Amino acid sequence: MPCALFAENTRVYPRAHFQDQTAESKLRPTHLLLGNVVFSERASKPDMTSTPGSLDSTAIQLDRVSRHYTLGASSIRAVDDVSLSIRSREFVALLGSSGSGKSTLLNLMAGLDRPTSGAIRADGRNLAELSSLELARYRRNTVGMVFQSFNLLPRMTLQENVELPLRLAEIDRAERATRVAEALQRVRLDKRTAHRPSELSGGEQQRTAIARALVNRPKILFADEPTGNLDSATGESILNLLAEIQSSLGMTIIMVTHERPLAEKFASRLAIMGDGKLLSDGMNNGAKQ
Ligand SMILES: Nc1ncnc2c1ncn2[C@@H]1O[C@H](COP(=O)(O)OP(=O)(O)OP(=O)(O)O)[C@@H](O)[C@H]1O
Ligand SMILES: [Mg+2]
Repeated sequence: MPCALFAENTRVYPRAHFQDQTAESKLRPTHLLLGNVVFSERASKPDMTSTPGSLDSTAIQLDRVSRHYTLGASSIRAVDDVSLSIRSREFVALLGSSGSGKSTLLNLMAGLDRPTSGAIRADGRNLAELSSLELARYRRNTVGMVFQSFNLLPRMTLQENVELPLRLAEIDRAERATRVAEALQRVRLDKRTAHRPSELSGGEQQRTAIARALVNRPKILFADEPTGNLDSATGESILNLLAEIQSSLGMTIIMVTHERPLAEKFASRLAIMGDGKLLSDGMNNGAKQ
């Protein structure tokens, strides 16, 4: 049983997102690092009644958010005074050149990092003021995350990978089975449940990661370059899937991408970053509905 390897109170996060020692050390002592996954303390069972917000409610609001890193005498303004309001059920693409602050901003909104200054309001609270435990609860109950590198656990089957967040949240067995089947069916991998990640194509691995992100029924799905490791046809099929999920589950999606044509085809809003700042932000009327 894979979960027997870990402490009872655990939760999975991709380690890639804890890029600096400061952020990583903030997680201790209740977080255990393993490979590229971070297992963190579980606070309580997820809110099983949570549903995505209505069309015109605000999913997440950033007021003058900055994240600065200090390296010796110099300061890097990874995110610099960004204000942004995202409504429920929007599909936002975050674009910009390498190093412009997209991942840093995404991590702040997902509760994986804290701002140096400013407020991030989501789920009725300011994330900047939450304790580590409350932030962990926000990550577990409100958000799902998908990354460029899939971050599946290689020794587990698809079924076990997708089930993991539910086991860690102590959802009972029957409910787990239903939710895993539902999530794998949504990404059309219900015939491959016994396979391990290495037996899947890149697109299938990313679909598994999407199923894992959905299994806790998040209100907001964050994706950091979800098509970055995929060929263009597979990348497009992943975005088709995300768009389908977004409209059928009424979810908010915030996605970082370098692929502007894909963003223009699928996202309802395009936000462009440069040097830590929000350079432009507007609706994309050409998106597929
Ligand atoms: N832990 C850190 N310590 C110091 N500087 C950092 C750290 N993490 C990120 N940065 C810096 O912050 C800036 C923004 O980084 P970020 O990863 O957000 O960029 P990005 O837009 O996602 O780039 P890419 O498209 O290459 O993924 C960069 O200059 C980066 O070097
Ligand atoms: Mg990035």
